[in-house]
Amino acid sequence: MLVFVNDITAVLEPDRRLYATAQTLALGIDTSSLWCTKITLLHYLPVTHYPIEYRDPQLAQATAHMNTRSKPATVNPFELTNELGYQAWRERKLDRYLRTVNELPTPILNPFNISHLERDSLIRRCRDTNMAIYQLKTEMTGEDPTDKRFMRVLGTQLGLQRLDDNLCADNDSITSLQVMQGGRHEGYIPYSNKRLNWHTDGYYNEDDQCIRAFLIHCVRNASQGGENSLLDHEMAYLLMRDENPAWVEAFMRPDAMTIPANIENGVEIRPTKHGPVFSLDSVTGSLHMRYTARTRNIIWKQERDTQAAVAFMRELLSDTSPYIVTHRLQPGQGLICNNVLHSRSAFTDIDGPDQQRLLYRARYYDRIVGTGLNEVAQAHEEH
Ligand SMILES: [Fe+2]
Repeated sequence: MLVFVNDITAVLEPDRRLYATAQTLALGIDTSSLWCTKITLLHYLPVTHYPIEYRDPQLAQATAHMNTRSKPATVNPFELTNELGYQAWRERKLDRYLRTVNELPTPILNPFNISHLERDSLIRRCRDTNMAIYQLKTEMTGEDPTDKRFMRVLGTQLGLQRLDDNLCADNDSITSLQVMQGGRHEGYIPYSNKRLNWHTDGYYNEDDQCIRAFLIHCVRNASQGGENSLLDHEMAYLLMRDENPAWVEAFMRPDAMTIPANIENGVEIRPTKHGPVFSLDSVTGSLHMRYTARTRNIIWKQERDTQAAVAFMRELLSDTSPYIVTHRLQPGQGLICNNVLHSRSAFTDIDGPDQQRLLYRARYYDRIVGTGLNEVAQAHEEH
């Protein structure tokens, strides 16, 4: 029987029953071959988020029947009960991560209108490692390198629209990261030349202001230091799950991590925030991580597995892991990522007016387009 659907995804129940769901691209699928062609690749997708929409009336009845059957409770590789899906995802992740993570920066000729090749290059890298480094051609940065208007446009072309307007951002919601004395920035490490410990951005934010991606662009670097170390948070998940899934489970609990309220001059400017370290996006199923390696102003749950998970992270991030990449952004270079784990080494500024290290940072509530869990699996299958 030939059935026309919007792109097929499929999941397996323990009894190996096949479910098909619909997405965006119309294509013809012979259901007799569906079992064979799709069974190996999509059994871990977050199927509950893709309603079944068969267009062929002949299958409407069958579809209704399938919809009423109980679907697998866990079909996401990041769900701890989905061992089969996790192993398939893990194999692909490891295969691609090391190959991609040390690739040279993607050159971008015009950030206001990136080419298909440039865009594909950035998105492919973000699919494999959740991050990509770009290099603007010098002619684009030559006239006024401090002009940051391109950042918003570049982000938009990668699906990043909803900017986070945090306390220290400039009027355009993009933050200038440089050494600042006094004022609101006083006491915040990002605005000093001290080492900035491992973290993901916005780990203290409320859930409706979850930072899913950020873009940092280097205008001027320091005379010494200021390197970023980066680790895809999916790799941190993978390494921890391989070591002990109970630690991952502990990090998925809603009370794993507590950030006390931020109080300035007796005024609460941010309430206490409880939350998990690892969580799954309710729409895309993608993995999100909230983390800080700081030891002050953070309360970890007093429970054995949570404490062990914290110790594991500390060890992982202090090690010379092959999965951690260190890069010193050069002027004209930038990092775009799905809020991966990152740190910054201490640095020394160049003397002289307008010579100090300057980076711009834009934080987004969106994830980079084409890097959702289902899109990654689909892309891998096509290549
Ligand atoms: Fe950061």
